[in-house]
Amino acid sequence: MTASTQVAIVGAGPAGLLLSHLLALRGIDSIVVENRSRAYCEARQRAGLLEAGTTELLRGVGLGQRMDAEGLEHGGIYLQFAGERHHLDFKDLTGGRWVTIYAQTEIVKDLIQARLAAGAQLEFEVSDTEVADLDQDRPLLRYTDAAGTRHEVRCEAIAGCDGFHGICRDSMPPGLVQVAERGYPYSWLGILATVPPSTDELIYARHEDGFALHTMRTRQVSRLYLQVSADEDIERWPDDRIWAELRHRLGVPGWQLKDGPITEKAITPMRSFVASPMRYRRLFLAGDAAHIVPPTGAKGLNLAMADVTVLATALTSLLRDGDPAPADAYSDASLRRVWRATHFSWWMTSMLHVDPGPDRFGPELQLAQLRYVTSSRAAATTLAENYTGYYPLHWP
Ligand code: FAD
Ligand code: PHB
Repeated sequence: MTASTQVAIVGAGPAGLLLSHLLALRGIDSIVVENRSRAYCEARQRAGLLEAGTTELLRGVGLGQRMDAEGLEHGGIYLQFAGERHHLDFKDLTGGRWVTIYAQTEIVKDLIQARLAAGAQLEFEVSDTEVADLDQDRPLLRYTDAAGTRHEVRCEAIAGCDGFHGICRDSMPPGLVQVAERGYPYSWLGILATVPPSTDELIYARHEDGFALHTMRTRQVSRLYLQVSADEDIERWPDDRIWAELRHRLGVPGWQLKDGPITEKAITPMRSFVASPMRYRRLFLAGDAAHIVPPTGAKGLNLAMADVTVLATALTSLLRDGDPAPADAYSDASLRRVWRATHFSWWMTSMLHVDPGPDRFGPELQLAQLRYVTSSRAAATTLAENYTGYYPLHWP
């Protein structure tokens, strides 16, 4: 089967779905192909924290209804170390900025619903996705649909929103893409538990036995993370051990961690990864397809949404107005934001995790930095400004 559209989007994660929505608002047609099922995409547990600019964007493009009803606004976080918990008040430090807890699963559900209601072409459970003719002005997307029919879609641009393990990045010409990356010698064990959060705002804890984070999904559902070793086996972590370790690392006098049934647990490796450029001719990469940050800074989803906001404007200029300048600037403009977030995520990660190894130098530097961030208004403002979103999003 052959067809044509203006933009072919690979991947129905937050980046691909939002791009398709934003393009539709500008009158540009797209198709989105996704190799997983709709149910899988809607249930995949990942991010939960949105920068102020991300919530404002979602609201501004008609996707804010459920987020406004169900999201939880937070005006700060707690930083905990050496057995003491300190509050950072973002609103005070940044002149009123905040963050919102609203799960990625819910954003993906809202986006899929909005796209399908608008009659968008959204194909789940495709296989053998390929992009071709990338040196031409009308490249090609090929895929096999869920029923086994092979399709060819001629388009004017391709957006590779297919995550870290997707095919688009590797489809760029050999030698073009430069990768800068850093591995970390630990992973996160994350759980979802049916128990009201034991805190009003997120707690980031540096403990000598490892980092822990208490976050949440709703007023009834908690999400918690533990630093574990890089090659940890989840079988070694029965529920009782997880709760005991969370109580141990998050505990401070006079505070109690409520526990409850664990409905999901998984281990995620930590990585920083930046591929550049994010564009080859009419193929544009966005989100995790181009960059990965460790989750300590809560930046991955926000970066993915920021990339496609810039990209939607660039593609509109290119395809509707014949102006290539914003598309030419897309990679550099995105990479500036990506590197700011990459530095912030690396900094938060390095400050809060315990490096395996007996060295005393690293832990003392971490404590010195944590004491500084919790006692100097200038240092606290640096954290607050980055956490709530340093680069403003622009969606005219
Ligand atoms: P993805 O969500 O990975 O979507 C890519 C899509 O492409 C997938 O649906 C995939 O199935 C599909 N695909 C792949 N290959 C193909 C193919 N060949 N053909 C068709 N489809 C394909 N970020 C934050 O901002 N805040 C947080 O609090 C946060 N916490 C996190 C916690 C954890 C434990 C993890 C793992 C991540 C967290 N992140 C966080 C990061 C965030 O989840 C990601 O950055 C985000 O999912 C990126 O969106 P994306 O659309 O670029 O990629
Ligand atoms: C989450 O809610 O899953 C979350 C929040 C903040 C982070 C990482 C993950 O830094």
